[in-house]
Amino acid sequence: MKGKAEVIIGAQWGDEGKGRIVDSLADRVDVVVRYQGGANAGHTVVVEGEKHIFHLLPSGMLYPGKTCVIGNGVVVDPEQFLSEIGELREKRKDKARLVLSEASHVVMPYHKIIDEAEEKRRSKGRKIGTTKRGIGPCYADKVNRIGIRVGDLLDPDSLRMKIIENLEIKNLLLTRIFNLPPIAFDDLMEKALDWGQQMRPYIGDGTAIVNEALDKGRGVLFEGAQGTLLDIDHGTYPFVTSSSAAAGGACIGSGIGPTRIDRVLGVAKAYCTRVGEGPFPTEELGEIGERLREAGGEYGATTGRPRRCGWLDMVALRYAVRVNGLGGIALTKLDVLTGLEQIKVCTAYEIEGRRHEILPSRLPEREDIQLHYESLKGWKEDLANCRRVEDLPPEAREYVRFIEENCKVPVVLIGVGSGREQTILCGL
Ligand code: IMP
Repeated sequence: MKGKAEVIIGAQWGDEGKGRIVDSLADRVDVVVRYQGGANAGHTVVVEGEKHIFHLLPSGMLYPGKTCVIGNGVVVDPEQFLSEIGELREKRKDKARLVLSEASHVVMPYHKIIDEAEEKRRSKGRKIGTTKRGIGPCYADKVNRIGIRVGDLLDPDSLRMKIIENLEIKNLLLTRIFNLPPIAFDDLMEKALDWGQQMRPYIGDGTAIVNEALDKGRGVLFEGAQGTLLDIDHGTYPFVTSSSAAAGGACIGSGIGPTRIDRVLGVAKAYCTRVGEGPFPTEELGEIGERLREAGGEYGATTGRPRRCGWLDMVALRYAVRVNGLGGIALTKLDVLTGLEQIKVCTAYEIEGRRHEILPSRLPEREDIQLHYESLKGWKEDLANCRRVEDLPPEAREYVRFIEENCKVPVVLIGVGSGREQTILCGL
């Protein structure tokens, strides 16, 4: 992968295990870039039995000699950033050089308050189930051209003007609409200047660093957050996050041209999960859902919420292949299916008598979708120590083959446990 640009994205609703995939591929590249989302993400990496959860920092942070970039497309909560980097530094695990793009936007305290207040105000059926990390309101300000960027934190005059301009509106919103106390200018200004000083050593030109690395033939990994079906344009809108979680986001969120990308790898769990509200056709509300949740430890890394669980949805996965131009699939958590007699896979939806093998652009209510399933034979063998495809029991190999055949993309990596070494590389 030397000298190549590879994008790693979530091919489902997030939580596919992108962190561990990025971690296991990071040793082959020089630069790891986060390009969208913010502290709503929770990327879990287990190294030598120790669990690290990154919300904002790229998952390559544990590798010495690497450069990690937080790109312009990310929204950065300064307190979260400082606490994550502080914790790593304390453990002496801040092995990589970290560059925070000056063009990334700052999640301000009012964004988090508004996120929570808006969510509370939404009526039943309209709630999104956000992570309350201020993501939506921060991206809204960015698009509305009133956002505060990381670089502004280093320029007191411009910062003052921008905070005044924002508080004028935000305080009206807080007090008049949400019945909440206003935010005091002096406190916020002081805090923001302090964040700037503490973040100063990391702030730089992320776009230049990524492009120069590619110019020099260095390998760059773009680490997507959330997943395709949570993408603001291509996901199950409005039950989505507010950024471009699909592969196209890597260009915008880091400042590289689309022609520079060599390959897009989609990370998909061997089954499906979703946290928060919104459509999830293959969701299993009974025993199977519970079994997957317990065996897979399916509780949100950011909010601790139990994840909704269900069978693998090929209709959604084929859609992810389409909108991301996937060249390969990294299949995670295959081990979680061990012990099931039969494993079901949804291969088509039927809506108003029409068969869909790829997710249509608008999904009707769940009761108006008929799901077509195929059943595959399960296996009983423990997969934890499998390191080659040949080590897998025949039924597990058949399951992988079935996925490849059904979405016409090779499975290039298989995860059989949470450890860095519990990975089968089959085409990388
Ligand atoms: P927000 O990104 O906090 O605005 O949340 C919007 C939706 O995306 C909610 O359904 C969240 O549960 C979901 N979401 C956001 N980040 C993640 C993630 O990293 N993994 C899975 N779901 C996420």
